[in-house]
Amino acid sequence: MAMTKSEKIWMNGRFVAWDDAKVHVLSHAMHYGSSVFEGIRAYRTPKGPAILRLSEHIERLLNSAKIYRMKSEYTQAQIEQACLETVGINKLEECYIRPLIYRGYDHVGVNPIGTPVELAIAAYPWGKYLGNDALEKGVAVKIGTWARMAPNTLPAMAKAGGNYLNSQLLKLEAVADGYSEAIALDTNGYVSEGSGENLFVVVKGELLTPPLHASILNGITRDSVMQLARELNIPVREAIIPRELLYICDELFFSGTAVEVTPITSVDRVVVKDGSVGPVTKAIQKAFFGIVNGEVPDRHGWLTPVPQAAAVRA
Ligand SMILES: Cc1ncc(COP(=O)(O)O)c(C=O)c1O
Repeated sequence: MAMTKSEKIWMNGRFVAWDDAKVHVLSHAMHYGSSVFEGIRAYRTPKGPAILRLSEHIERLLNSAKIYRMKSEYTQAQIEQACLETVGINKLEECYIRPLIYRGYDHVGVNPIGTPVELAIAAYPWGKYLGNDALEKGVAVKIGTWARMAPNTLPAMAKAGGNYLNSQLLKLEAVADGYSEAIALDTNGYVSEGSGENLFVVVKGELLTPPLHASILNGITRDSVMQLARELNIPVREAIIPRELLYICDELFFSGTAVEVTPITSVDRVVVKDGSVGPVTKAIQKAFFGIVNGEVPDRHGWLTPVPQAAAVRA
């Protein structure tokens, strides 16, 4: 999947040309996975581009950095502003935004003390993560043979580059076996999450999702889905989910910035209900896309408009 380049990338306080946004090969992050990042979407709305849940994403970015003792010289407000400017300067109507805090070049060695903590922000066009049909028709998934990290190994709440080695193993296995995605279990054998998305299960009208202690990332879309469900009077709660519940549930869907709200129609080739997208999933999709596309009022204040002025600052 070749990516569509945009013009400029924000690096440590200034914009550089896309092709010049480079790091030294001996940067700490290259060798030891010492980076934390976010994935954020900006949506096209009738009032212009708007970034979805910007402050929550940057808060999580800085929390991920804090967990790894990476002290960024930029504040939450400065990073939010830089994200807005990166979308603006690239004149993007809708896009994916990737802020990355990483340990740069100083010395090679596990001890990170002394390495500079750097920040880069890219924004570029990006389509539907699991294919154009995924949102409407759903996807086929498998249970991965790799478990999510045990709680006292790597912190799942940090969105750290190193965690995605586990995600890559899951994704590679899923694709090699002919599935769109893999769902991982935690080290207790209970359902955790997908390689890059949270999971919701509908059982008898109730929406269930694994809790934080099932080694999940505390997803921001997960939070949006839970809020929307409550407003739609759909009971929702965190629950320990055994693998086999995925085979016999009524509906199943992923949530995440990349997948948005994507239905799952089979697990390990076992069809979920009759294989169609169910009513709860449809209701959540409708509520979610209504807000992000600016079709219904943004009653939660989830969208930050990209100011026109940001587009002209070089
Ligand atoms: C492992 C993992 N779980 C869940 C999610 C969903 O999180 P969010 O909704 O904040 O994008 C992501 C995506 O960031 C992820 O990488």
